[in-house]
Amino acid sequence: MSYQSILDQIHEEIAPTLPQGRIADYIPQLACVDERKFGMAICDVDGGYASVGDADERFSIQSISKVFTLTQAMRTADAQLWRRVGREPSGTAFNSLVQLEFENGIPRNPFINAGALVVTDIVLSHLGDAKAALREFARRLSGASDIDYDLRVADSEARLGYRNAALAYFLKSFGNLENHPDQVLDAYFHHCALSMSCAELARSFMYLARHGINSDGAVISSSQAKAINSLMLTSGTYDAVGAFAYSVGLPAKSGVGGGIVAVMPGQFSLCVWSPGLDGRGNSMAGSLALERFAALSGQSIF
Ligand code: DON
Repeated sequence: MSYQSILDQIHEEIAPTLPQGRIADYIPQLACVDERKFGMAICDVDGGYASVGDADERFSIQSISKVFTLTQAMRTADAQLWRRVGREPSGTAFNSLVQLEFENGIPRNPFINAGALVVTDIVLSHLGDAKAALREFARRLSGASDIDYDLRVADSEARLGYRNAALAYFLKSFGNLENHPDQVLDAYFHHCALSMSCAELARSFMYLARHGINSDGAVISSSQAKAINSLMLTSGTYDAVGAFAYSVGLPAKSGVGGGIVAVMPGQFSLCVWSPGLDGRGNSMAGSLALERFAALSGQSIF
C-alpha cells in the first residue's frame, strides 16, 4: 500500500468521527479553531510526499516547538544542558509543579514545560534573540520563508499563563534560570505560538528521520538525532507516553494545538493535526490516526 492510499484510508475512517475530544481553551485563542479539522502529511527519505485533508492549513504548534528549541540548545550548549535538565519520563502532567519541588528545580526532561523553560533560558543566553532565532530555524528546516508567530496566540497565553509563570519563577528560585523569568516566558510563549502546517512540520522534522541531516546539510550530529528521537519516545507525549509507545511505536511529539509529529528514523517524518484533545493534552483523532498508520503500514521502530 502506498503512503497516499494509507492516508486516504485513515482520513475516510476518521472524518465521520470528528469532532473528537476537547479543544484546549486554557489558551483562549486556541479555542477559535474549527474542531472538525483533520490533516496529515508524510515525507520520506527518498523525497516522497503524501498528504490528506487540512495538511496545508497552519495551526498553533505549541509544544511541538520544544523539539526545535531543544535542537537549538543542543547545537550550542549540549553539555551544560544536561546538568540542568533530566532525561527521564515525568509520569506527571506537562505543566505540573509538584515534581519540581521534590527534585530541587531540575526538570525531569526537556519536553515538560519546566524543562522547556530551562532550554529556552539556555537558548536566550547563547543566541540572544531567541524569538528571531527559532523563527529562522523553523523557516530553514521547512523551506517556508513566511512561517511566523501568531501574536494573538502568544498574547492570549501570556495574559493567562499563570502556571507557566509559577514554573519559571520557581526555577529561578532554584538558580536554574540565568535570565529573568519574564524574559524566558516571553520567548517560550512565542515559540509555542509558531504557526505551521502538517506539510511544513513533516518536512521540518526530516533531520530526525535522516540522522541529523536536512536537505541543506547537517543540523545536528547523528548521535544527537538519536538522543532527540529517544527523548520523544520516552517523554514526547507526556504521561500518555507508555500507551502511545504501546499503540504507535514511534518517537513523537505532541502539542495542545492538536498537532503530533512522529518520526521513523531512516524512513519518514509524519505529522497529523486535529484540534480536539484527550485528557492528557494529546490530539485524540491524531493519536488514533497514528495508531492506524502504524497498523496499516507495518512501520514502527520495534
Ligand atoms: O505551555 C503551555 O501550556 C502551552 N503553550 C504548550 C503546552 C503543550 O502543547 C503541551 N502539549 N501537549
